[in-house]
Amino acid sequence: MPTTLISTVSENGQTNLGAYSLCFPYYVAGKDYYAMVLECRNSSNTAQNILRTKRATINFVTDERKYFKEAVRLGFPGETTAEKMKDCIFTMSESNLDDDRPQYIEETTKCSSAVG
Ligand SMILES: Cc1cc2nc3c(=O)[nH]c(=O)nc-3n(C[C@H](O)[C@H](O)[C@H](O)COP(=O)(O)O)c2cc1C
Repeated sequence: MPTTLISTVSENGQTNLGAYSLCFPYYVAGKDYYAMVLECRNSSNTAQNILRTKRATINFVTDERKYFKEAVRLGFPGETTAEKMKDCIFTMSESNLDDDRPQYIEETTKCSSAVG
């Protein structure tokens, strides 16, 4: 099971990071596209942002203790995007693939960007 941080964009345009492990390949063959499945609490910032914007970036957290500690902090339910991102340790970068893909995390394994 991976530890991922899902980037999405909040209503006011701020990038939100949520911790998610239930994220798996869904279509890998037999279609003319690839797909991932994400099992996500409906009331989360991530779910609400994906439903609204149809976009998410999947950042796969690499094997450093400080990054896992940050993922746990970003997995605490009930915080707004502004609250959780205020002290975020990660460097966020713009995707160069297309304009409306959410930012990705520089320090993690390079993202897969997906239509939600
Ligand atoms: C390592 C880790 C993995 C998690 N995996 C999931 C998951 O797969 N699905 C889920 O709904 N919540 C998962 N959570 C809980 C969410 O991170 C939590 O609901 C959080 O509030 C989501 O942030 P968001 O509201 O900004 O999206 C996980 C938490 C941690 C720390």
